[in-house]
Amino acid sequence: MTTSEVTVSRTNGKVRSHPTQNEALLFEKSSPGKRAYKLAPLDVPAVDAAALLGAAHRTTPGELPELSEIEIIRHFTRLSTWNYAIDLGMYPLGSCTMKYNPRVNELVARIEGLAEAHPYRPDSLAQGILEVIDLLQRCLIEITGMDAITLQPAAGAHGEFTGILLVRAWHESQGNARKRILIPDSAHGTNPATAAICGYTVENLKSNAEGGIDLEALTRQVDEETAALMLTNPSTIGVFESQIAKIAEILHAKGALLYMDGANMNALVGKARPGDFGVDVMHLNLHKTFSTPHGGGGPGSGPVACKAFLEPFLPTPVLISNFGFDDPRSPNARDLGHPGTKGLGTEGLSAGELHWEYNRPQSVGRVRAFYGNVGMFIRALAYILANGPDGLRQTTEDAVLNANYIRAKLQDLYELPYKTASMHEVVFSDKLQAAKGVKTGDIAKRLIDYGFHPYTVSFPMIVHGALMIEPTESESLEELDLFIEAMRAIAKEAEETPELVKSAPHSTRVSRLDEVLAARKPILRWAPAARPNAR
Ligand SMILES: Cc1ncc(COP(=O)(O)O)c(C=O)c1O
Repeated sequence: MTTSEVTVSRTNGKVRSHPTQNEALLFEKSSPGKRAYKLAPLDVPAVDAAALLGAAHRTTPGELPELSEIEIIRHFTRLSTWNYAIDLGMYPLGSCTMKYNPRVNELVARIEGLAEAHPYRPDSLAQGILEVIDLLQRCLIEITGMDAITLQPAAGAHGEFTGILLVRAWHESQGNARKRILIPDSAHGTNPATAAICGYTVENLKSNAEGGIDLEALTRQVDEETAALMLTNPSTIGVFESQIAKIAEILHAKGALLYMDGANMNALVGKARPGDFGVDVMHLNLHKTFSTPHGGGGPGSGPVACKAFLEPFLPTPVLISNFGFDDPRSPNARDLGHPGTKGLGTEGLSAGELHWEYNRPQSVGRVRAFYGNVGMFIRALAYILANGPDGLRQTTEDAVLNANYIRAKLQDLYELPYKTASMHEVVFSDKLQAAKGVKTGDIAKRLIDYGFHPYTVSFPMIVHGALMIEPTESESLEELDLFIEAMRAIAKEAEETPELVKSAPHSTRVSRLDEVLAARKPILRWAPAARPNAR
């Protein structure tokens, strides 16, 4: 059988697009003198650039590619078709929640008055965008059941950092910053990194057989030097921590706080509120739960919500209305016992208008320039308002239903290491396939031939050979069935023709890449032949 026969006969009706037109770098396509534009004749007095720039004036032109407009457009358009995207098909990357970004979010984010709002605009002229931020804050406070919030952090990990700074500042205000943070072995890698960067020692907490926290171990490990437990709920194996209220009690009895990594809130929104089950501080990932784009490393958004006693430590500035902190109409100000700053910085504002408050003596300070990734706030608010409370609840239910549908349809062929009910994602292991030498990474690569983005491979660490699958609520029954069919077909191949799976993908421009070399020694810059070693 030829490679093309292998791929074509096994695609289960799934459309794949892999146009394989060769594509050189723009630098390689360049030919001297080509232009994509023509400047209009100079209609202002010419200046002497050399005199103006002095030593910074360059005498030789930069080595830039020279091409026509159509060549550039075709180059980037062709490259864009090589990428897999949520707009092409299911993207079941567990833990990442690659849900569809509804177009209404994009429409709203492009409204000129919002998109063009400048951060230096005086508060009195920025009431529209401030109201958007205020309303999003109120919605997120309502959804999480917390008392106060900051939208400043630019991503989930940045939210963790901000949240643990709040924990530290609060402990310091009590006379002892404490030394340790407890983190379960199932945690996302960013949790221990956050604790360490905030100056805490990380202490590992072993999961029990159900994938939850071992309460006896927790009771033994928490003491007066424990600053907090960082708990992801639902966890990275997609399991809800049913003992959460008891866990909070154990921590609070020793003066320690409960930090919840709320990156998986897409399994809880509209159903349960962390503020109601004992959480003191948490972050959200707007790009996971509220459908803002993930955007290749940014811009994301990782708001931090907290209980009232942590509010004075929130990063500056916070948004308040000039009713004053004590007024229930002010965001971040309800019943918080804050001293209040009525009148400060409110020049030109009418009663009740919003403004940024900087005078916060106990604040941990700024964690980001300006106010956060405001474009993401607009998108998240559009998503929340478009769905409404019932829609958000339905979204959560569908995400959980989809994960459990996949679980039910695959558990006879893939080993399920934790039998506890799944929430938004299901984690299998490659134990059955590994008997034939086929590993989770091989199965993931073979999925590409079936037209799907791979699931998350080898995470979480507590599951050896993990296949972590998160369909999200975006997928229809038809797409889920195609995925299930593909996974079942691959399980059969692993049994009957394991080499086919181990050498996948067969349908792509390149097959197995040296991923370690690519990560450790990335070549990110084109270098002219004369300087081949430039990086
Ligand atoms: C459980 C969990 N915590 C933290 C993060 C970190 O979020 P970010 O990638 O936005 O920094 C993620 C990201 O997916 C996550 O799944």
